[in-house]
Amino acid sequence: MKIAVLPGDGIGPEVTREAVRVLEALGLPGLIMFEGDVGGVAYKRHGHPLPEETLTIARSCDAVLFGAVGDPSCDKLDRHLRPEQAVLGLRKELGLFANLRPAKVFPGLEHLSPLKPEIARELDLIIVRELTGDVYFGDKGVRMANDGTREGWDMMNYSETEVRRIALIAFRTARARNNKLRVTSVDKANVLETSQVWRDTVIEAAGAHPDIALSHMYVDNAAMQLISHPGSFGVVLTGNLFGDILSDLASAAVGSIGLLASASLGERSTEYGMFGMYEPIHGSAPDIAGQGVANPTAAILSVAMMLRYSFKLDDQAKRIETAVERALADGFLGRDLGGEHGTEAIGTAVCERL
Ligand code: NAD
Ligand code: IPM
Ligand code: MN
Repeated sequence: MKIAVLPGDGIGPEVTREAVRVLEALGLPGLIMFEGDVGGVAYKRHGHPLPEETLTIARSCDAVLFGAVGDPSCDKLDRHLRPEQAVLGLRKELGLFANLRPAKVFPGLEHLSPLKPEIARELDLIIVRELTGDVYFGDKGVRMANDGTREGWDMMNYSETEVRRIALIAFRTARARNNKLRVTSVDKANVLETSQVWRDTVIEAAGAHPDIALSHMYVDNAAMQLISHPGSFGVVLTGNLFGDILSDLASAAVGSIGLLASASLGERSTEYGMFGMYEPIHGSAPDIAGQGVANPTAAILSVAMMLRYSFKLDDQAKRIETAVERALADGFLGRDLGGEHGTEAIGTAVCERL
C-alpha cells in the first residue's frame, strides 16, 4: 500500500503531520509513504508548484494524502506558477473528477455548530462536487476593453459527458447512504446555459435511478437552505465552483472549516480499491500558519476516507472517525472551536483514542 504524502504550504505540513501520525498509530502492515513537494514550497525549491517528480510519485502510489497549498508571497506570479495550480494540476492530471465532501454534526456535538441544536442535529449530508471542469478549467484571459481598461474573462462550460458521470456518482453515493435516498442538484439554470445543460443531463441520468428522490435547486436558494434546513439535504450534487463555495458554507454550519475532509476520485482502480486523493477542504491558512494552532481534524478524517475508498479498510476508517468524535466530545477543541488545544495535542488525543 503506497501513499504519496504532499504536505504543501502554510498549515498544510502542520495538519498533515498529525494525519500521518494517526495513520502510523493504526499499525497497518505493508504501508509505505513517499513525500513530495507541492505549492509555493515546490515553486521555491524547483521553480514549479507541481514538479514532474511530484506527479510521478503521485501516479506511482495507490493514494495521495494532500495538505494544502497557497502562499501570499506567490500571489503576483503568473497564474501557471501559483501554488494553487498544484492542486488543480493534480486533480486534472490524475483524472479525479469526483470530489466527495461529507458534512455531518456528530451526535452530542451540536454545541460546536453555530446553528440551533435542533437544526444542527439534522445536518448529515455529502457534497458531490464535479472537480475537473466548469469555469476552473475553461479558457481564460485578460484583454483590453474598448474603453482602454482591462477586462478579465473565464469561460464556464460543462459537457453532457462530464455532467452524466458526476451525476452517476451522486446517485451511487445516495444509494450507499442507507438513511436518505435523496439527491439535490444545485445549479443556476435560471440564468446560465451551462446550468441548463447540467440540469437536463442530471434529469436524464436519473432515469435509471427511479428510487432516488431527485430535486433541483438554484445555488442562491441552496446556500440559504443549507443554513435554515440543513436536514433536508442528503447528497448535494453540484459543479466545481458552486461546490467549492457551498462546502465552505457547510463547514461553518458544522462548526469549523477545520473539520471537513474530502476524497477526490476518478475511474482508476488499484489492487486495493479506488485510486484517490484525500485532503481537508480548507487551505493553507496563512493567518495562523506556524503557530501550531490549526485544527488537524479535517486532515485526520481525510485519512479515514482514504482507508475507506482506496484501501477498503472500513473498520480502520471507522476507528479513526470514532477516535475523532471521542476527542471532540472529551473537549479537545482548537481555537477555531473556542478551545485552546493546539494541533499536536489534538493529534495526540485522537491517537490515544484509536
Ligand atoms: P483557508 O481555508 O486557508 O482559511 C480560511 C480561514 O479559516 C482562515 O481564517 C483560517 O485561519 C481558517 N482555517 C482554515 N483551516 C483551518 C484549520 N485547519 N484550523 C483552524 N482554522 C482554519 O482559506 P483562505 O484564507 O481563503 O486561503 C488561504 C490560501 O489557501 C490561499 O492561497 C488559497 O488559494 C489556498 N487554498 C488552498 C486550498 C487547497 O490547497 N486545497 C483550499 C482553499 C484555499
Ligand atoms: C478547494 C480550494 C481549491 C478549489 C483552490 C485552492 C484551487 O479552494 O480545494 O476547495 O477552489 O478547488
Ligand atoms: Mn475551497
